[in-house]
Amino acid sequence: MCGIVGYVGGRPALGIVMDGLRRLEYRGYDSAGVAVVAADEVLTEKRAGKLAILEKALAEGDIAGIAQGTTGIGHTRWATHGGPTDRNAHPHLARDGRVAVIHNGIIENFAKLRAELEADGVEFTSETDTECVAHLLAREMIGDGAQALAEGMRRVCRLLQGAFTLLAVSADAPGAVVGARRNSPLVVGRGEGENFLASDVSAFIEHTREAVELGQDQVVLITADGIEITDFDGEPATGRDFHIDWDASAAEKGGYDYFMLKEIAEQPDAIADTLLGRLKENGDIVLDEVRLSDQDLRDVDKVFIVACGTAYHAGMVAKYAIEHWTRIPCEVELASEFRYRDPVLDRSTLVVAISQSGETMDTLMALRHAKEQKARVLAICNTNGSTIPRESDAVLYTHAGPEIAVASTKAFLTQLIACYLVGLHLAQVRGIKYADEVAAVVEQLQRMPGKVREVLETMEPVRELARSLADAKSVLFIGRHVGYPVALEGALKLKELAYMHAEGFAAGELKHGPIALIDQGCPVVCVVPSPAGRGVLHDKIVSNIQEVRARGARTIVIAEEGDTAVEPYADHLVRVPRTPTLLAPLVTTVPLQVLACEIAATRGHDVDQPRNLAKSVTVE
Ligand code: F6R
Repeated sequence: MCGIVGYVGGRPALGIVMDGLRRLEYRGYDSAGVAVVAADEVLTEKRAGKLAILEKALAEGDIAGIAQGTTGIGHTRWATHGGPTDRNAHPHLARDGRVAVIHNGIIENFAKLRAELEADGVEFTSETDTECVAHLLAREMIGDGAQALAEGMRRVCRLLQGAFTLLAVSADAPGAVVGARRNSPLVVGRGEGENFLASDVSAFIEHTREAVELGQDQVVLITADGIEITDFDGEPATGRDFHIDWDASAAEKGGYDYFMLKEIAEQPDAIADTLLGRLKENGDIVLDEVRLSDQDLRDVDKVFIVACGTAYHAGMVAKYAIEHWTRIPCEVELASEFRYRDPVLDRSTLVVAISQSGETMDTLMALRHAKEQKARVLAICNTNGSTIPRESDAVLYTHAGPEIAVASTKAFLTQLIACYLVGLHLAQVRGIKYADEVAAVVEQLQRMPGKVREVLETMEPVRELARSLADAKSVLFIGRHVGYPVALEGALKLKELAYMHAEGFAAGELKHGPIALIDQGCPVVCVVPSPAGRGVLHDKIVSNIQEVRARGARTIVIAEEGDTAVEPYADHLVRVPRTPTLLAPLVTTVPLQVLACEIAATRGHDVDQPRNLAKSVTVE
C-alpha cells in the first residue's frame, strides 16, 4: 500500500530517497515524508498530498544539512489509521526527535499499545498506528549505535500484531537503517559501499540490480558496508538473493503522457513474453514453474479461482475456459469473501490465486485459508519475489514487466494468457475432450500479440468517441459469456479513472431490472461475441442491443470484423479482429481501456494515480 525507501552509503541520501519515492508513488499518494540523519540530528519534512508538495516544501524550507546527510528514509502514504494530513504523514518521531519510523501496513493491536504508552506519560501527536512504533522503539532501543537500533526493532516487533514493513533511523545510530517485515513486502538493494531498502525494487533499480528479498518476521540492518539479517529473536537468518532482470527504463514513461498509455501499448509484447517458451511446436504446453506433478493435476476435482478487482475479472474469464476445456467444476470468488464463507476445500482442490502485485492482502489471506484446508495453491503473479507466489505450492509468472499505473491493463491481458495456459495444460494432462478445438486455440494464442497490435492501431475513433462521452452521467456495459467479465472490467476502468457511474451487466440480466436505468442518450457499451463461435449467443446479444436502443440508448458496439448483423443497431461501431470466442477478451478489453483512459484525461483527472486508490492493497 504505502511505499517505503531507505538508503545508507557515501552519497547524499535525500535525492536518492526522493527518486525512489517517485517510483513508488503508485503505491499510495495521499502524503509523503522523509527523514535524514545529518550531523547529530534526524531532520524531517512531511506533507499531506502528492510527492510534488513535499518536494516544494523541501525546496522552500531549505532545512540546514538535510541535503548532505548520507542516511535517510522516505515514505509515500495510503492512509489507513488517521486521515491524510501533515501530522499523520510519516515519518513519526520519538526520543525527542532522535528516532524516526515509517511504516506500511496495519498494527492491529495499536489501540492497546497506545493506551499503555499514554498511561506511561507518552504524548501522541498523530492519529496513526505508526506513531506507537516510534515511541516503542524509543523505549526499547537501549543505548546507542546500529546494534542497539536493530535490537530495539526486534524487541518492538515482538510486541506488534498485524501486517507491517517498518524502517527506522536514529541520530543515536548514524550510518544505519533498520527494517522489519511481517506480511508486507521489503527488499534490500545490495550496492557497493551503499545499500538500499524498499517496498519494491523499482525504487533502487537505477543504482543496483542485485537484491535480497526478506523473509517473514525478519529484521535487517543495513550500513554502507553490510547487510545483517536476523529473525525477530535475533537468530541469524537469510533472505533470498535475486537479480533484477529488467532495467530502469521499463519503469519510465518512455515518451507517453501517462504510464497507463504506455502500458496499454506494451500489451502485445507483454502477451508475447508471457507465452514465450510455454508453447511447444507440437501444441503441448510447457509450464516448468508449476511445481505440481502431472499426477497432482490429474487428481484435481475442483478449481477455485480467488482474486480481486481486475484480477477477479481475469478469473471470471478463466472459469469459462477451464470448465469448457477440462470439464472440471471451476468457481471464481472474490478473495475478500472467500475465507469468510467456509468454502468446501480438500487435497484435490486446486486454488488459483491471481494477483499482479503478489501482495494483495485479501488474496493472500484467501490462499492461506486454502492451504490450511490442505488445498493446493497455484499463483498467477507478475511480481517476482512477492508474498503470494512465495506462499503458494506453485507459480506461473506473467511477464508483463512493471505495471506502474494504478489501473491494471497489461497485467490483465497477461493474467488471461496465464489462465488459458493453466486451462490448456490441465486439459492436456488429464486427456482432452475437445482435442481439435484445444489445438486450434494453442495455434491462435500465438497470433494474439499481432491481433492486439491491430486493435491498438485503430484506436483513434475510440479516443474521439471518448471525448464526446466525457460529460455523460453514467455509462453501462453489457456482455454475455466471456463478454460479461469484459463488460465488468470496462465499467471498473471507467469508475476508477473517470469517477463516473458505470456498471457492467450480463446482457441477459438487463430485462430483470437494470434496463430501467436506460433513458434517452444513455451510453451503453455492448461487447459482442463472434457470430462464428457461438452463434446463439451472438444473436441473443444483438436482440439485447435492439432492446436498449429502443429505449433511447446510444449504443457503442464492440464487434468482430465482418459482423454485419450489428451494423443497423450501432451508433458507434468499434471493430476487433476475428478471434475464437474464449480468447476474445484479449481484443475486446483493449478499446475499453483506451475509452476509460481518454475520458479520464478529458475530464482532467490524474490517469496514473486516481483518487483514493493505491496499486498494491496490503490491507484487508
Ligand atoms: C483495477 C485494479 C485493481 C487490482 C486489484 C488486485 O484497475 O488494478 O482492481 O486488479 O486491486 O490487485 P492485484 O492483482 O495486485 O492482486
